[in-house]
Amino acid sequence: MAPQLETPKYEMKASDLIAEDIEAYLHAHQHKSLLRFLTCGSVDDGKSTLIGRLLYDSKMIFEDQLAALEADSRKVGTQGGEIDFALLVDGLAAEREQGITIDVAYRFFSTDKRKFIVADTPGHEQYTRNMVTGASTADAAIILIDARKGVLTQTRRHSYLVSLLGIRHVVLAINKMDLVDWSQEVFDTIVGEYRDFADQIGIKDFTAIPMSALRGDNITEPSDKSPWYAGPPLMRWLEDAPVEDDLQAGPFRMPVQWVNRPDLDFRGFSGQVSSGVVRPGDRVKALPSGRESTVARIVTFTGDLPEAVAGQSVTITLKDEIDVSRGDVLAAAASPPEVSDQFEATIVWFDDEPLLPGRPYLLKAGARTVQAQVAEPKYKVNVNTLEHLAATRLELNEIGVCNLALSAPIAFDAYTENKDLGGFILIDRISNRTVGAGMLHFALRRAQNIHWQATDVHKAARAASKRQRPRVVWFTGLSGAGKSTIANLVEKRLHAEGRHTYLLDGDNVRHGLNRDLGFTEEDRVENIRRVGEVAKLMADAGLIVLTAFISPFRAERRMVREMMPEGEFVEVFVDTPLAEAETRDVKGLYAKARAGELKNFTGIDSPYEAPEQPEIRIDTTTMSPEQAAEAIFTWLER
Ligand code: ADX
Repeated sequence: MAPQLETPKYEMKASDLIAEDIEAYLHAHQHKSLLRFLTCGSVDDGKSTLIGRLLYDSKMIFEDQLAALEADSRKVGTQGGEIDFALLVDGLAAEREQGITIDVAYRFFSTDKRKFIVADTPGHEQYTRNMVTGASTADAAIILIDARKGVLTQTRRHSYLVSLLGIRHVVLAINKMDLVDWSQEVFDTIVGEYRDFADQIGIKDFTAIPMSALRGDNITEPSDKSPWYAGPPLMRWLEDAPVEDDLQAGPFRMPVQWVNRPDLDFRGFSGQVSSGVVRPGDRVKALPSGRESTVARIVTFTGDLPEAVAGQSVTITLKDEIDVSRGDVLAAAASPPEVSDQFEATIVWFDDEPLLPGRPYLLKAGARTVQAQVAEPKYKVNVNTLEHLAATRLELNEIGVCNLALSAPIAFDAYTENKDLGGFILIDRISNRTVGAGMLHFALRRAQNIHWQATDVHKAARAASKRQRPRVVWFTGLSGAGKSTIANLVEKRLHAEGRHTYLLDGDNVRHGLNRDLGFTEEDRVENIRRVGEVAKLMADAGLIVLTAFISPFRAERRMVREMMPEGEFVEVFVDTPLAEAETRDVKGLYAKARAGELKNFTGIDSPYEAPEQPEIRIDTTTMSPEQAAEAIFTWLER
C-alpha cells in the first residue's frame, strides 16, 4: 500500500481499548515515549512502501475513527486528563512558524511500546529543504538503500545532512533484499562501503538491517529469509532506540518568545525551555544584556509549577525589574551561553538564487531575528568525496562553511550543544523566502577583541562646521544611462554653492579600491557593499556624497539605505530604457556585449532591478543632463 504523501495526517493504532475504555486507552497512550524519525531515500528505494508497511503493521486506525477519538479526547481533556496530541501538533506548528514552505508529510502511529512521528521527505529537487525541515526535530533517521544499487550519491548526501543536523541514531535500511536472493555477501559489501563513508562524516554508529518492505521481512518480526542476520527487525529497533533526554541535563536555556504583560502588576517571559531545568529561586541571566535576577514563579495555564524542564512551554517571572525583550535568552546565571555577532557556521543552501557573500539576509535563531551577511565562504563540500572546494557563493543544495557577521549580537550555543540556540535559518529580505539553514560552530575571536572607539569630534560637529546636512545621493541605472554625467553636473552645482562634496564613480573606484572586482553577481554585491561603507564614512565626515554605480540589485541598494540615518540616503533612478542606452553606447560596450565579447553585461546577460520607490526619478528621454542636474539640486536644497 502506498499512502498519500501530500497532506500531514495523524494515524494511530486501533486498540480494543479505544472502543471499551477511552480514558484507560488515552492514559496508557499518554505515558508512552515518543520517537520522531526521518526517512531518507527515494520512491525507487521503496520508501513509500516502507512507511506504508510500518503503518499497516502497527494496525493504525483510519481517519473517521481518529475524528471520533479526538472528540472523545476533548471531553476527557476538560475533565482534567490532558491529552498529549497537542504536543505533536506543537512540534509541527514550530516548523510552520519558521515560515518554511515545505513538502514534508508527518505521520503518526504507535505500537504497544511507543508512539512515533515519521517525517517523510520527498526526494526530488527541493530535497535539501525538505530534509532539513524534517530532520530539525528528529531523534533518528532511516536511510534507505536499494540492495541492487548500493550506496549512491543521494545516500551520501542524506547521510551527510543527517550527521550535520546532529541525528545520532541511524538505521541503514538495506531494502529489496528479496531481489538479490537475500545474499549476505551483497549486504556485507554495502555495509562495508557505507561504514567507510559514515566514519568520515562522524556517524559513529549505525544499525544495518536487511529487509523487504514489500514482503514484510525484518519489519516487525525477524525473517527466516536471513538466518545470518542476528540484529533486530526495524520495528523493534524503533521501539528500543534511546530518545534524547540529555537536553534536560544541559544548562537551563529559554529563548523568550514574548513578554507577557497583561497589567502593571504582572510581567512574565514566555517561551519553551530548550534545555535544562528551572525552578523558582534559581539565578538567571538575560542575554545579550547580561543582567541577572532570580526566578520568582513559573506560571502556566493550569497553575504554578515547582520546576520546568526542556520541552515545556512556560511563563517565567523574575524578582527584579530587569530589561528582557522578545528574542532574548534566559539562561542559568552560572553557565550562560556566549554572546557574539560574528561566527563560523555551516550553511545549507536551498534556494534557486545563490547565496551571495555581502548580501544582507535575515537570520532567525531561537526567537531572535537579526540581519546577517556572509563575510566569506571558506569552502563548500563535495558530498561524494567530502573534498573542500573553493567557493565564492553557494548554489541550490550546496553545503559550505562560512564566516557570518550579524547586525547585532545574539546569545548562542554551538549547534552540537544546543540545536535551538545554535541552529538558524536565513530568509531573503526581498522575497521573504527561507533560503538556507545553518549551524553555528563558534564565535570569531576577532569580534570579541574589537571595540567601538568613541571620538570627541562627531558627525554633527563636522557637518555643522561645513554648514550642511550630510547626504548620500545614490545614482543607479544602466551602463550609459547618464549617471556619471548628471552626478558630475550636480557636484559642480553644489560646489559652486560652497557645499563640501565628493563624487564616487563606478569606473574610477574600480581603478583603485575595487580593482580586484569583476562583474559576477558576487563581485557586484561586494562592489556596492564597499562603496556603501565608504559613502557612510564620507557622510560621517560631514560630506554630501554622490555615487554613480549601476548598482543593479535592490537588496544592496536597500542595505546601503539602511546603513544611513533616515532621510540621508537619496536614491536617484537615472531611467534610460535599454534600447536608448544601447543606441548611445558611448563606451562601445553594448556592441561588444552583443557580439559576445563581454560577458555578464548589465541589461544584456546580467539583470538590472529598477528601483520601486526612488526619491528622484530622471527620465533622460525627456530631460537634458542639465535639466536633470538642476532638478536634483533643487530637490536637495529644498
Ligand atoms: S556595478 O554593477 O558593480 O554597480 P559599476 O557601476 O561599478 O557596476 O561599473 C559599471 C561600469 O563598468 C560600466 O559603466 C561600464 O563602463 C563598465 N563595465 C565593464 N564591464 C561591465 C559589465 N560586464 N557590466 C556592466 N558594466 C561593465
